[in-house]
Amino acid sequence: MNESTFPGTQHLPSSMEPIPSTPDPAPATPAEPTPQHTPAPPSPARTVVTPPSNYAEMPRPTAKLTAEDMAPVNDPHGPRNKIGPTGRPLPDLPEVKPPTRRGPAQVIAMCNQKGGVGKTTTTINLGAAIAETGRKVLLIDFDPQGSASIGLGVQPHDLELSVYNLLMQRDITPAEVIQATRVDNLDLLPANIDLSAAEVQLVQEVAREYTLQRVLEPIIPLYDVILIDCAPSLGLLTVNALTASNGIVVPLECEFFALRGLAMLTDTIGKVQDRLNPKLEIVGILGTMFDGRTTHAREVLDRVVQAFDERVFHTVIRRTVKFPETTVVGEPITTYAPSSQAATQYRDLAKEVLARCPVG
Ligand SMILES: Nc1ncnc2c1ncn2[C@@H]1O[C@H](COP(=O)(O)OP(=O)(O)O)[C@@H](O)[C@H]1O
Ligand SMILES: [Mg+2]
Repeated sequence: MNESTFPGTQHLPSSMEPIPSTPDPAPATPAEPTPQHTPAPPSPARTVVTPPSNYAEMPRPTAKLTAEDMAPVNDPHGPRNKIGPTGRPLPDLPEVKPPTRRGPAQVIAMCNQKGGVGKTTTTINLGAAIAETGRKVLLIDFDPQGSASIGLGVQPHDLELSVYNLLMQRDITPAEVIQATRVDNLDLLPANIDLSAAEVQLVQEVAREYTLQRVLEPIIPLYDVILIDCAPSLGLLTVNALTASNGIVVPLECEFFALRGLAMLTDTIGKVQDRLNPKLEIVGILGTMFDGRTTHAREVLDRVVQAFDERVFHTVIRRTVKFPETTVVGEPITTYAPSSQAATQYRDLAKEVLARCPVG
Protein backbone atom coordinates (compact mmCIF):
# COMPACT_ATOMS: atom_id res chain seq x y z
CA MET A 1 0.00 0.00 0.00
CA ASN A 2 1.27 3.39 -0.93
CA GLU A 3 1.52 5.31 2.34
CA SER A 4 1.75 8.67 0.59
CA THR A 5 -1.83 8.40 -0.54
CA PHE A 6 -3.15 7.60 2.93
CA PRO A 7 -5.06 8.99 4.66
CA GLY A 8 -6.85 10.60 1.73
CA THR A 9 -9.17 13.52 2.27
CA GLN A 10 -10.30 14.17 -1.29
CA HIS A 11 -13.14 12.44 -3.04
CA LEU A 12 -12.02 9.86 -5.50
CA PRO A 13 -12.70 10.69 -9.11
CA SER A 14 -14.84 7.97 -10.60
CA SER A 15 -12.01 6.99 -12.93
CA MET A 16 -10.25 5.75 -9.82
CA GLU A 17 -13.03 3.34 -8.98
CA PRO A 18 -10.78 0.68 -7.52
CA ILE A 19 -9.88 -2.34 -9.56
CA PRO A 20 -7.61 -4.89 -7.95
CA SER A 21 -4.22 -4.69 -9.65
CA THR A 22 -3.37 -8.22 -8.67
CA PRO A 23 -5.04 -11.06 -10.53
CA ASP A 24 -8.24 -12.19 -8.87
CA PRO A 25 -7.59 -15.17 -6.69
CA ALA A 26 -9.59 -18.29 -7.29
CA PRO A 27 -11.84 -19.46 -5.89
CA ALA A 28 -13.51 -16.20 -5.00
CA THR A 29 -17.01 -14.91 -5.04
CA PRO A 30 -17.98 -13.68 -8.51
CA ALA A 31 -17.54 -9.97 -8.98
CA GLU A 32 -20.51 -7.68 -8.98
CA PRO A 33 -20.86 -5.88 -12.30
CA THR A 34 -18.80 -2.70 -12.09
CA PRO A 35 -21.37 0.08 -11.84
CA GLN A 36 -21.18 2.80 -14.44
CA HIS A 37 -21.54 6.35 -13.31
CA THR A 38 -20.71 9.75 -14.58
CA PRO A 39 -17.86 11.68 -12.99
CA ALA A 40 -18.94 13.80 -10.05
CA PRO A 41 -18.20 17.51 -10.15
CA PRO A 42 -15.23 18.26 -7.89
CA SER A 43 -16.39 18.83 -4.34
CA PRO A 44 -14.46 20.59 -1.60
CA ALA A 45 -12.29 18.62 0.79
CA ARG A 46 -14.25 17.35 3.81
CA THR A 47 -13.53 15.48 6.94
CA VAL A 48 -15.30 12.38 5.63
CA VAL A 49 -12.96 9.41 5.73
CA THR A 50 -12.08 8.59 2.16
CA PRO A 51 -9.97 5.59 1.29
CA PRO A 52 -6.72 5.92 -0.68
CA SER A 53 -6.97 5.19 -4.38
CA ASN A 54 -5.18 1.85 -4.22
CA TYR A 55 -7.05 0.47 -1.23
CA ALA A 56 -8.72 -2.28 -3.18
CA GLU A 57 -5.40 -3.83 -4.15
CA MET A 58 -6.11 -6.72 -1.95
CA PRO A 59 -3.42 -9.08 -0.81
CA ARG A 60 -3.68 -12.52 -2.26
CA PRO A 61 -5.18 -15.03 0.14
CA THR A 62 -2.34 -16.60 2.11
CA ALA A 63 -2.28 -20.34 1.98
CA LYS A 64 -0.43 -21.11 5.21
CA LEU A 65 -1.82 -20.52 8.66
CA THR A 66 0.60 -20.25 11.55
CA ALA A 67 -0.15 -21.46 15.06
CA GLU A 68 -0.53 -17.85 16.05
CA ASP A 69 -3.06 -17.27 13.29
CA MET A 70 -5.10 -20.16 14.54
CA ALA A 71 -5.01 -19.10 18.18
CA PRO A 72 -8.33 -17.76 19.47
CA VAL A 73 -8.32 -14.02 20.02
CA ASN A 74 -10.19 -14.27 23.31
CA ASP A 75 -7.91 -16.81 25.04
CA PRO A 76 -6.38 -14.81 27.92
CA HIS A 77 -3.22 -16.96 27.80
CA GLY A 78 -2.99 -17.17 24.02
CA PRO A 79 -0.60 -15.26 21.77
CA ARG A 80 -3.40 -13.12 20.33
CA ASN A 81 -5.31 -12.31 23.49
CA LYS A 82 -4.82 -8.57 23.25
CA ILE A 83 -5.38 -8.26 19.53
CA GLY A 84 -8.93 -7.98 18.25
CA PRO A 85 -10.14 -9.48 14.97
CA THR A 86 -9.47 -6.16 13.23
CA GLY A 87 -5.77 -6.54 14.06
CA ARG A 88 -5.80 -3.68 16.56
CA PRO A 89 -5.50 -3.86 20.33
CA LEU A 90 -8.93 -4.61 21.70
CA PRO A 91 -10.18 -1.86 24.01
CA ASP A 92 -12.56 -2.48 26.88
CA LEU A 93 -15.91 -1.60 25.42
CA PRO A 94 -17.76 0.91 27.57
CA GLU A 95 -20.69 -0.52 29.52
CA VAL A 96 -24.00 1.02 28.49
CA LYS A 97 -25.81 2.92 31.21
CA PRO A 98 -29.62 2.83 31.44
CA PRO A 99 -31.21 5.77 29.65
CA THR A 100 -32.03 8.85 31.67
CA ARG A 101 -34.39 10.45 29.19
CA ARG A 102 -36.19 9.71 25.92
CA GLY A 103 -34.96 10.95 22.54
CA PRO A 104 -34.35 12.87 20.43
CA ALA A 105 -33.48 9.89 18.27
CA GLN A 106 -30.16 9.26 16.60
CA VAL A 107 -31.07 8.24 13.06
CA ILE A 108 -28.61 5.75 11.59
CA ALA A 109 -28.77 4.24 8.10
CA MET A 110 -27.31 0.81 7.34
CA CYS A 111 -25.93 1.45 3.92
CA ASN A 112 -23.97 -0.44 1.28
CA GLN A 113 -25.18 -0.74 -2.29
CA LYS A 114 -23.84 -4.29 -2.38
CA GLY A 115 -26.49 -6.87 -1.50
CA GLY A 116 -25.99 -9.69 0.96
CA VAL A 117 -23.43 -7.92 3.16
CA GLY A 118 -25.45 -7.98 6.38
CA LYS A 119 -27.41 -4.71 6.30
CA THR A 120 -30.73 -6.27 7.27
CA THR A 121 -29.18 -8.67 9.78
CA THR A 122 -27.36 -5.74 11.39
CA THR A 123 -30.45 -3.51 11.45
CA ILE A 124 -32.52 -6.16 13.24
CA ASN A 125 -29.89 -7.39 15.66
CA LEU A 126 -28.22 -4.09 16.48
CA GLY A 127 -31.70 -2.66 16.98
CA ALA A 128 -32.66 -5.50 19.31
CA ALA A 129 -29.38 -5.19 21.24
CA ILE A 130 -29.93 -1.44 21.73
CA ALA A 131 -33.56 -2.10 22.75
CA GLU A 132 -32.23 -4.45 25.47
CA THR A 133 -30.48 -1.47 27.08
CA GLY A 134 -33.89 0.10 27.73
CA ARG A 135 -33.72 2.49 24.79
CA LYS A 136 -36.71 2.84 22.51
CA VAL A 137 -35.78 1.73 18.99
CA LEU A 138 -37.57 2.03 15.66
CA LEU A 139 -36.45 -0.04 12.68
CA ILE A 140 -37.40 1.33 9.28
CA ASP A 141 -37.56 -1.24 6.52
CA PHE A 142 -36.52 0.83 3.52
CA ASP A 143 -36.01 -2.02 1.07
CA PRO A 144 -38.91 -3.06 -1.21
CA GLN A 145 -37.88 -6.68 -0.57
CA GLY A 146 -39.20 -6.25 2.98
CA SER A 147 -36.43 -8.40 4.48
CA ALA A 148 -36.32 -6.55 7.80
CA SER A 149 -40.09 -7.00 8.10
CA ILE A 150 -39.81 -10.72 7.33
CA GLY A 151 -36.91 -11.04 9.78
CA LEU A 152 -39.21 -9.74 12.51
CA GLY A 153 -42.05 -12.07 11.65
CA VAL A 154 -44.14 -9.62 9.57
CA GLN A 155 -45.43 -10.87 6.22
CA PRO A 156 -44.95 -7.99 3.74
CA HIS A 157 -47.79 -9.03 1.42
CA ASP A 158 -50.27 -8.96 4.31
CA LEU A 159 -49.58 -5.30 5.14
CA GLU A 160 -52.43 -2.85 4.75
CA LEU A 161 -50.16 0.12 5.28
CA SER A 162 -46.41 0.33 4.86
CA VAL A 163 -43.68 2.93 4.71
CA TYR A 164 -44.78 3.50 1.11
CA ASN A 165 -48.13 4.95 2.28
CA LEU A 166 -46.38 7.14 4.80
CA LEU A 167 -44.10 8.56 2.11
CA MET A 168 -46.71 9.10 -0.58
CA GLN A 169 -49.96 9.93 1.28
CA ARG A 170 -49.98 13.10 3.34
CA ASP A 171 -53.01 11.98 5.41
CA ILE A 172 -51.23 8.90 6.80
CA THR A 173 -49.46 9.32 10.14
CA PRO A 174 -46.50 7.25 11.42
CA ALA A 175 -48.66 5.87 14.25
CA GLU A 176 -50.93 4.22 11.67
CA VAL A 177 -48.05 2.32 10.08
CA ILE A 178 -45.62 1.57 12.92
CA GLN A 179 -46.02 -1.85 14.54
CA ALA A 180 -44.75 -3.09 17.88
CA THR A 181 -42.62 -6.25 17.56
CA ARG A 182 -42.40 -9.20 19.94
CA VAL A 183 -39.24 -7.60 21.34
CA ASP A 184 -39.65 -5.01 24.13
CA ASN A 185 -38.79 -1.44 23.09
CA LEU A 186 -38.47 -2.44 19.42
CA ASP A 187 -40.92 -1.05 16.85
CA LEU A 188 -41.02 -1.59 13.10
CA LEU A 189 -42.01 0.60 10.17
CA PRO A 190 -42.55 -2.20 7.67
CA ALA A 191 -42.13 -2.22 3.89
CA ASN A 192 -43.15 -4.31 0.97
CA ILE A 193 -42.85 -4.28 -2.82
CA ASP A 194 -45.03 -1.12 -2.99
CA LEU A 195 -41.93 0.80 -1.95
CA SER A 196 -40.33 0.17 -5.34
CA ALA A 197 -43.00 2.46 -6.85
CA ALA A 198 -41.95 5.24 -4.49
CA GLU A 199 -38.50 5.28 -6.07
CA VAL A 200 -40.19 6.32 -9.33
CA GLN A 201 -43.02 8.46 -7.93
CA LEU A 202 -40.77 10.48 -5.63
CA VAL A 203 -38.93 11.86 -8.65
CA GLN A 204 -41.96 14.09 -9.28
CA GLU A 205 -42.12 15.44 -5.72
CA VAL A 206 -40.96 18.81 -4.53
CA ALA A 207 -37.93 18.39 -2.20
CA ARG A 208 -37.98 14.72 -3.13
CA GLU A 209 -34.77 13.92 -1.20
CA TYR A 210 -36.32 15.18 2.04
CA THR A 211 -39.50 13.11 1.98
CA LEU A 212 -38.42 10.55 4.58
CA GLN A 213 -36.93 13.25 6.80
CA ARG A 214 -40.24 15.13 6.69
CA VAL A 215 -42.38 12.15 7.65
CA LEU A 216 -40.01 11.13 10.48
CA GLU A 217 -39.84 14.57 12.04
CA PRO A 218 -42.81 14.12 14.44
CA ILE A 219 -41.51 10.81 15.83
CA ILE A 220 -37.88 11.83 16.45
CA PRO A 221 -38.70 12.81 20.08
CA LEU A 222 -40.44 9.47 20.70
CA TYR A 223 -37.42 7.22 20.04
CA ASP A 224 -33.80 7.03 21.15
CA VAL A 225 -32.49 5.29 18.05
CA ILE A 226 -33.99 4.90 14.58
CA LEU A 227 -32.22 2.43 12.29
CA ILE A 228 -32.92 2.46 8.56
CA ASP A 229 -32.37 -0.74 6.58
CA CYS A 230 -31.41 0.57 3.12
CA ALA A 231 -32.00 -1.23 -0.16
CA PRO A 232 -28.94 -2.45 -2.07
CA SER A 233 -28.77 0.60 -4.34
CA LEU A 234 -27.71 4.24 -4.23
CA GLY A 235 -30.99 5.45 -5.77
CA LEU A 236 -33.45 8.05 -4.53
CA LEU A 237 -34.71 5.91 -1.65
CA THR A 238 -31.21 5.51 -0.25
CA VAL A 239 -30.53 9.23 -0.76
CA ASN A 240 -33.74 9.88 1.24
CA ALA A 241 -32.43 7.59 3.99
CA LEU A 242 -29.06 9.38 4.08
CA THR A 243 -30.75 12.79 4.11
CA ALA A 244 -32.92 11.75 7.07
CA SER A 245 -29.96 10.29 9.02
CA ASN A 246 -27.21 11.71 11.14
CA GLY A 247 -25.08 8.58 10.96
CA ILE A 248 -24.24 5.72 8.63
CA VAL A 249 -23.07 2.24 9.47
CA VAL A 250 -21.49 0.44 6.52
CA PRO A 251 -21.60 -3.35 6.84
CA LEU A 252 -18.84 -5.01 4.80
CA GLU A 253 -18.59 -8.72 4.14
CA CYS A 254 -15.05 -9.84 4.93
CA GLU A 255 -14.19 -11.18 1.49
CA PHE A 256 -12.05 -10.25 -1.49
CA PHE A 257 -14.51 -7.95 -3.29
CA ALA A 258 -15.75 -6.18 -0.18
CA LEU A 259 -13.97 -2.94 -0.97
CA ARG A 260 -15.19 -2.68 -4.54
CA GLY A 261 -17.83 -0.03 -4.88
CA LEU A 262 -16.87 1.63 -1.59
CA ALA A 263 -15.47 4.64 -3.49
CA MET A 264 -18.89 5.12 -5.05
CA LEU A 265 -20.54 4.84 -1.63
CA THR A 266 -18.19 7.38 -0.02
CA ASP A 267 -18.71 9.64 -3.05
CA THR A 268 -22.51 9.48 -2.58
CA ILE A 269 -22.10 10.15 1.14
CA GLY A 270 -19.91 13.17 0.33
CA LYS A 271 -22.50 14.54 -2.10
CA VAL A 272 -25.32 14.12 0.42
CA GLN A 273 -23.17 15.88 3.04
CA ASP A 274 -22.40 18.75 0.67
CA ARG A 275 -25.82 19.29 -0.83
CA LEU A 276 -28.49 17.85 1.45
CA ASN A 277 -27.37 16.94 4.96
CA PRO A 278 -24.16 18.42 6.42
CA LYS A 279 -24.61 16.61 9.74
CA LEU A 280 -24.29 13.15 8.16
CA GLU A 281 -21.27 11.15 9.39
CA ILE A 282 -19.93 7.64 9.06
CA VAL A 283 -20.52 6.11 12.48
CA GLY A 284 -18.50 3.07 11.57
CA ILE A 285 -17.54 0.31 9.17
CA LEU A 286 -18.61 -3.15 10.35
CA GLY A 287 -16.91 -6.35 9.27
CA THR A 288 -19.54 -9.05 8.81
CA MET A 289 -19.52 -12.77 7.99
CA PHE A 290 -15.98 -12.91 9.35
CA ASP A 291 -14.35 -16.32 9.25
CA GLY A 292 -11.42 -16.28 11.64
CA ARG A 293 -10.16 -19.63 10.35
CA THR A 294 -8.84 -18.00 7.21
CA THR A 295 -6.04 -15.49 7.12
CA HIS A 296 -7.80 -14.00 4.11
CA ALA A 297 -10.70 -12.63 6.15
CA ARG A 298 -8.17 -10.96 8.44
CA GLU A 299 -6.20 -9.57 5.49
CA VAL A 300 -9.41 -8.02 4.18
CA LEU A 301 -10.09 -6.47 7.58
CA ASP A 302 -6.46 -5.21 7.75
CA ARG A 303 -6.99 -3.44 4.47
CA VAL A 304 -10.27 -1.92 5.63
CA VAL A 305 -8.51 -0.67 8.78
CA GLN A 306 -5.70 0.82 6.65
CA ALA A 307 -8.31 2.69 4.63
CA PHE A 308 -10.79 3.73 7.31
CA ASP A 309 -8.67 3.64 10.45
CA GLU A 310 -10.55 4.24 13.68
CA ARG A 311 -13.91 4.36 11.86
CA VAL A 312 -13.78 0.53 11.73
CA PHE A 313 -15.65 -1.04 14.64
CA HIS A 314 -13.53 -3.27 16.87
CA THR A 315 -16.47 -5.65 16.95
CA VAL A 316 -16.81 -7.92 13.96
CA ILE A 317 -19.70 -10.26 13.26
CA ARG A 318 -18.57 -13.81 12.65
CA ARG A 319 -20.12 -16.10 10.10
CA THR A 320 -22.64 -18.43 11.67
CA VAL A 321 -25.67 -20.37 10.51
CA LYS A 322 -27.58 -18.86 13.43
CA PHE A 323 -28.42 -15.74 11.39
CA PRO A 324 -30.23 -17.51 8.55
CA GLU A 325 -32.06 -19.46 11.30
CA THR A 326 -33.28 -16.25 12.94
CA THR A 327 -34.86 -15.17 9.65
CA VAL A 328 -36.85 -18.39 9.56
CA VAL A 329 -38.16 -17.91 13.11
CA GLY A 330 -38.67 -14.17 12.58
CA GLU A 331 -36.88 -12.84 15.64
CA PRO A 332 -33.52 -11.29 16.53
CA ILE A 333 -30.54 -13.35 17.66
CA THR A 334 -30.73 -11.67 21.08
CA THR A 335 -34.01 -13.46 21.83
CA TYR A 336 -33.52 -16.56 19.63
CA ALA A 337 -30.11 -17.47 21.06
CA PRO A 338 -29.51 -14.92 23.80
CA SER A 339 -26.27 -16.37 25.10
CA SER A 340 -24.73 -17.19 21.71
CA GLN A 341 -21.50 -15.62 20.50
CA ALA A 342 -23.52 -14.01 17.71
CA ALA A 343 -25.81 -12.24 20.21
CA THR A 344 -22.79 -11.10 22.22
CA GLN A 345 -21.23 -9.61 19.09
CA TYR A 346 -24.30 -7.49 18.37
CA ARG A 347 -24.41 -6.40 22.02
CA ASP A 348 -20.76 -5.37 21.71
CA LEU A 349 -21.61 -3.48 18.53
CA ALA A 350 -24.44 -1.74 20.39
CA LYS A 351 -21.87 -0.59 23.00
CA GLU A 352 -19.63 0.84 20.29
CA VAL A 353 -22.50 2.52 18.44
CA LEU A 354 -23.90 4.08 21.62
CA ALA A 355 -20.41 5.30 22.57
CA ARG A 356 -20.10 7.01 19.17
CA CYS A 357 -23.72 8.24 19.08
CA PRO A 358 -24.74 8.82 22.69
CA VAL A 359 -28.48 8.82 23.39
CA GLY A 360 -30.70 8.93 26.42
N1 LIG B 1 -22.71 -13.16 10.24
C1 LIG B 1 -23.40 -13.91 9.39
N2 LIG B 1 -23.12 -15.23 9.25
C2 LIG B 1 -23.81 -16.01 8.40
N3 LIG B 1 -24.80 -15.57 7.62
C3 LIG B 1 -25.14 -14.28 7.68
C4 LIG B 1 -24.47 -13.37 8.57
N4 LIG B 1 -25.03 -12.14 8.42
C5 LIG B 1 -25.98 -12.27 7.50
N5 LIG B 1 -26.07 -13.54 7.06
C6 LIG B 1 -26.98 -14.10 6.05
O1 LIG B 1 -26.56 -13.59 4.79
C7 LIG B 1 -27.68 -13.26 3.99
C8 LIG B 1 -27.61 -11.79 3.60
O2 LIG B 1 -27.66 -11.00 4.78
P1 LIG B 1 -28.55 -9.67 4.84
O3 LIG B 1 -28.45 -9.15 6.23
O4 LIG B 1 -29.92 -9.95 4.30
O5 LIG B 1 -27.75 -8.74 3.84
P2 LIG B 1 -28.23 -7.41 3.06
O6 LIG B 1 -29.35 -6.81 3.84
O7 LIG B 1 -27.01 -6.55 3.02
O8 LIG B 1 -28.64 -7.85 1.68
C9 LIG B 1 -28.90 -13.59 4.82
O9 LIG B 1 -29.35 -14.87 4.43
C10 LIG B 1 -28.39 -13.61 6.24
O10 LIG B 1 -29.13 -14.51 7.05
MG1 LIG C 1 -31.28 -6.32 3.16
